[in-house]
Amino acid sequence: MNSDFDSIRTLGIVGAGAMGRGIAQIAASAGLDVRLFDADAKAVGAARDYLRETFEKLVAKGKIERPIADAALARVSGAEALADLAGCQVVVEAIVERLDAKRELLRALEDVVGPHCILASNTSSLSITSIAAACAFPRRVAGFHFFNPVGRKFPHVRVLHDHAFVWRQVHAINLVFRDIAVKPLNLRSDLIQCLQ
Ligand SMILES: NC(=O)c1ccc[n+]([C@@H]2O[C@H](COP(=O)([O-])OP(=O)(O)OC[C@H]3O[C@@H](n4cnc5c(N)ncnc54)[C@H](O)[C@@H]3O)[C@@H](O)[C@H]2O)c1
Repeated sequence: MNSDFDSIRTLGIVGAGAMGRGIAQIAASAGLDVRLFDADAKAVGAARDYLRETFEKLVAKGKIERPIADAALARVSGAEALADLAGCQVVVEAIVERLDAKRELLRALEDVVGPHCILASNTSSLSITSIAAACAFPRRVAGFHFFNPVGRKFPHVRVLHDHAFVWRQVHAINLVFRDIAVKPLNLRSDLIQCLQ
């Protein structure tokens, strides 16, 4: 893994539903460039509409200034194909909660992103180790469990990784979450699964 981890600026998100759009909002608000992909192209448009309305409301309530809201919205771009996530340093998936779908997606992402890209799953209930098992480099896979609604009522994210996860990646992830002002709770996924 390399020193890119001191400056993660580009986040890919796959799945533009409830969780994906929430993650996009907090990441873009923190200054990250966000690329949003969904198997359903209409979902990306709907997510951008949602983000526009959300930022409008925040401006109307005086929570943020318009130039900041406009800049945040401009940082979220729609990806037409998975391949458009090629330059991302971290990609988090927030797709349907199905092991086969998540495995297939992360495996396909490995063919797209660079060798140092961290892949993360926002799964609610699936084993990170099982999701990562299909990857050529499972050590790059972590779990980010954002709570719903993302970042507002719950400014925390559970970061799940198993014993094989590279510690430098944990450091990198902590830097990202420091930037987006959510508190990472680092946990070993195998221990969590024991508790569940
Ligand atoms: N909603 C919650 O309260 C919540 C909380 C924490 C974690 N999660 C987890 O987050 C993930 C997403 O949940 P959500 O509520 O946002 O779901 P959602 O149904 O609102 O959105 C999922 C999106 O993923 C897209 N999608 C499905 N399969 C795809 C694929 N193979 N490639 C690309 N896009 C695909 C769908 O078109 C849809 O737009 C799930 O794993 C869920 O368990 C959800």
